[in-house]
Amino acid sequence: MSVHSMSARSDAEVAARVDALIAGMTVAEKAGQLTQYFYFDIPSPDQPGGGNTGGAEAPGPGFAGQGNTVEAALARGEVGSLLFVTDPAQANRLQRLAIEGNRHGIPVLFGFDVIHGLRTIFPVPIAMAASWDPGVIERGQAVAAREARAVGIHWAFAPMVDIARDPRWGRIVEGAGEDPYLGAAVAAAQVRGFQGDDPGSPGRVISGPKHFAGYGAALGGRDYDEVNLSDSELWNVYLPPFKAAVDAGAGNIMTAYMDLNGVPATGNHWLLTEILRGTWGFGGFLVSDAQAVHNLRTHGFAADLTDAGARALGAGVDMEMAIGDPAYAHLPEAIAAGLADEAALDACVRRVLAAKVRMGLLDQPYVDEDQAREVLADPAHRAAAREAAQRSAVLLRNEGGLLPLADAGSIAVIGPLADSRRDILGPWVFDFDLDETVTVLDGIRNRAGQGAEVRYAPGIRPAQRVFPSMFDMFANNAPAEPAAFDDTAELARAVTLAHESDVAVVVLGEWQNMIGEAASRSRLELPGEQLALLQAVVATGTPVVLLVMNGRPLDLRWAAEHVPAILDIWYPGTQGGAAVADLLFGDVAPGGKLPFSWPRTVGQVPLVYSHTISHEPANQGRRYWDEESTPLYPFGHGLSYGRFEYRALTLDRDRIQAGETVTASVTVTNTGERAGDEVAQLYIHQRHGTASRPVRELKGFQRFTLAPGESRTLEFPLGPGELRYWNAAARDWVIDATTIDVFAGGDSAAELTASFTITG
Ligand code: NOJ
Repeated sequence: MSVHSMSARSDAEVAARVDALIAGMTVAEKAGQLTQYFYFDIPSPDQPGGGNTGGAEAPGPGFAGQGNTVEAALARGEVGSLLFVTDPAQANRLQRLAIEGNRHGIPVLFGFDVIHGLRTIFPVPIAMAASWDPGVIERGQAVAAREARAVGIHWAFAPMVDIARDPRWGRIVEGAGEDPYLGAAVAAAQVRGFQGDDPGSPGRVISGPKHFAGYGAALGGRDYDEVNLSDSELWNVYLPPFKAAVDAGAGNIMTAYMDLNGVPATGNHWLLTEILRGTWGFGGFLVSDAQAVHNLRTHGFAADLTDAGARALGAGVDMEMAIGDPAYAHLPEAIAAGLADEAALDACVRRVLAAKVRMGLLDQPYVDEDQAREVLADPAHRAAAREAAQRSAVLLRNEGGLLPLADAGSIAVIGPLADSRRDILGPWVFDFDLDETVTVLDGIRNRAGQGAEVRYAPGIRPAQRVFPSMFDMFANNAPAEPAAFDDTAELARAVTLAHESDVAVVVLGEWQNMIGEAASRSRLELPGEQLALLQAVVATGTPVVLLVMNGRPLDLRWAAEHVPAILDIWYPGTQGGAAVADLLFGDVAPGGKLPFSWPRTVGQVPLVYSHTISHEPANQGRRYWDEESTPLYPFGHGLSYGRFEYRALTLDRDRIQAGETVTASVTVTNTGERAGDEVAQLYIHQRHGTASRPVRELKGFQRFTLAPGESRTLEFPLGPGELRYWNAAARDWVIDATTIDVFAGGDSAAELTASFTITG
């Protein structure tokens, strides 16, 4: 389904309105429509609803005076879109400038990084993926879309569908992890959530999957660095989530910053035009990442800004996202010099104008400020965020059934992250409300109620980045140094508290400015003194529940041996603390599963479950002499309060022809004493063929709840979509004549197996 066919407005109506607009436009006006500027208007959490910088105090280098420049360009009618405006009154003011500024009265599109919520913050995307629940993911982005549209945003720069296999890369937190099958399902669910059946309908926005393509494979995990991917990896691993997003009707795609196999992604005609538009039939518009067109020059690709604009346009980039000095401002020059083609310019302008028409902007460019307030205050949004946080958590370990906690008693809550309103929200949020954010400590206090004694000690001061984050310029972003903090006394206080309590809940992880864009790391240890704090608390002999607040796997080797219960809560959002308490006390059972293989140590990365088999496969776990080369926790791992047994894996046929479908069924029983949630997973392995295939590949999953003693039989179809793969030798999709092993279970190490044959 394309955006085209989904739109409430007919193609003919859209074309007629676009034709009428474009007919009278000059080349400079057209170039303006293809230019998007940052405009900073971030209500600071200290001044809810306020904080308009007007550009004068715009944050950070490169943004100084941005507001004035942008307003001048708006007044000249040379702006197609703005990003970072989230205040409805401000959006209306700027929209008026835009409309009055151009002879054609063309409104601007407002775009924004609506990554995991606008006011109501949901768990970070990697957490949402860990729910393995497309329904909860779709509902989450529908709430985000509703809040965004209410304040005047038309377009979300989301989802990030980049596969991430190297947790040193900070942006692993924004995606769905290492697997293309899970990644494709999560991508499609998010696009549906943002856009519904029609992004132009009320409460919906255009979805812009990003960053096309391969950005997650940055060399050394260093953000923005070059990417070199084999043909097989590109097609079999990195492109499928984008294809799924396009098939789900995404109205926009954002290009990537880096070089892909030696050519900048933003100047890559093969990628943007031949594959995306040609092979896949993408009908929406393409935007560059911020300053990525301009940067074609710094890449040593384009000679100057005129060349950069001409080559991005030629490659297929419809709109330039500009921090300053747009290359697309040079398009008139490029066309006059014969470097760029006016027909190509027109095609881009048509796509951008078509998006505006479809969003209803020409009929209703302004936003209702009263309605915005109502929508943002909707309690149903908080309820959805709480459910999402419950379903995202992954129970990594639960020795002796320490969880769920018995109701009463005394609880020590320990660690600076346990009571940090800003950190529990995670990165990539700007419009949050700290007053309504529930920390882990708040959540436990509220839930434990009168009978229990809940006491708190941070134990240590927050850790800090060695190099600051570019996001630290926003209010409340960098962890605050506590005033007058006596390290020795505070550690002793935390230890005493643990000693005096029935259970210690220790919250450790990364501060939210340590993960996200430009937040790559060279190590995976818990930053600062956190491991020492954990060890001191465990040494008291009080049972410890470790809650991990993170967006990437961290080195938990010590904890995995010495801490009985480990629950990965990620950055669970506005309602995070409430959801964590629901899980700790067993009001709901955890059921999330890891969307990546959890390495033991940074030296193992990249580490994926779907590696191919080579020499000495029996020694796969001993590829290093100094450490096991297996993961600490496998891809797909996650426990619940029930216990699940898999049996009777059967196939409805033992032989099919290429192109046919076989259906696998398996029965799962909860043999535990409590209800629980499980995600059943189906993997395949191709025994032989015209290329080597991975030892395991995910090809199906289903999440469900079972009462104690209850069973369920699940079916998983395996058809051409699951059995084909991109063959680098044939440079095409193939289904081999072969034998396929099928595995079913609760993680990627599943042992229950059956097999079938594919004949040629
Ligand atoms: C750069 C990031 O790479 C991209 O993901 C984001 O959407 C833009 N900046 C706009 O903030």
